[in-house]
Amino acid sequence: MKVIAINGSPHAKGNTYLALAEVGVSLKEEGIDYEIIHVGHKQIHGCIGCGKCQEKRNGTCVAFNDVVNEVLPKLKEADAIVLGSPVYYAGIAGTMKCFLDRAFYVAGANGGWFRHKVGAAVVAVRRSGGTMTFNSLNHYFGLSDMLVPTSVYWNIIHGLIPGEASQDQEGIEVMNTIGKNIAWMLKMKEETKDKLTEPASFAKTFTNFIR
Ligand SMILES: Cc1cc2nc3c(=O)[nH]c(=O)nc-3n(C[C@H](O)[C@H](O)[C@H](O)COP(=O)(O)O)c2cc1C
Repeated sequence: MKVIAINGSPHAKGNTYLALAEVGVSLKEEGIDYEIIHVGHKQIHGCIGCGKCQEKRNGTCVAFNDVVNEVLPKLKEADAIVLGSPVYYAGIAGTMKCFLDRAFYVAGANGGWFRHKVGAAVVAVRRSGGTMTFNSLNHYFGLSDMLVPTSVYWNIIHGLIPGEASQDQEGIEVMNTIGKNIAWMLKMKEETKDKLTEPASFAKTFTNFIR
C-alpha cells in the first residue's frame, strides 16, 4: 500500500512538511509506503477552465504541461492521498490551490480516479484560519467520492517560522493519530475487498439551479 502526500508550502522543510512527516511516522510504523512530494515552490498556473481535459480525457491537464502532469500518475496509483498546506490569509496557499484545482479536475474528468481512495488534509498555521483551510482542503475529497478518516482534533499544527511546529505537541499527536487512522482504514479496505462490494458508481445528474 502506498500513500502520497503533497506539500503545498513554498518551504521544503517548513511546518507543513513537519505535519506531513508526522503523519508518515505512523504510516511507516504500520508498514505503509509513504512519499512526500513538494509542489508549493513550483510555478503552477491555475485552472483556466478550458474544459480540454473533459474533451480529450487523456489523463493530463491539456492546457499546461507542468508538475501537475508529473504528479498525477502517482496520485492515480496511490491508495491514499494526504494534502498539506500552510494557511495563507485564512485559506489554501495560492500555489497549492492552483495545483489542486487542476489535478482534481483532471482526475474527475477521466472517470473519477480518486473514487474510494482515502484522503486526509493537514494544515500549518501561526494563529488563525486553520479550520477554514482544513475545510477547504477537505472539499476536494468530498467532491471526489473519497473516504476521509478523522483524528482527535482537526488536523492543524501551529508555528510561524519553519520547524517551530515541532513545539506543538498536541498538533504532533493529532498528525500521528491521523496517520494511524489512515493506515487502519486502508487495512480495513484491503481485508474486506473480497467480502464487501463497493457501492457502484453512477452517471451523476448535473444541475446548476436554473433548469
Ligand atoms: C502570505 C502569508 C499569509 C499567511 N496567512 C496567515 C493567516 O491567515 N493566519 C495565520 O495564522 N498565519 C498565516 N501565515 C503564517 C503561516 O501560516 C505559518 O507561518 C505556517 O506555519 C507556514 O507553514 P510552512 O512553514 O509550511 O510554510 C501566513 C504566512 C504567509 C507567508
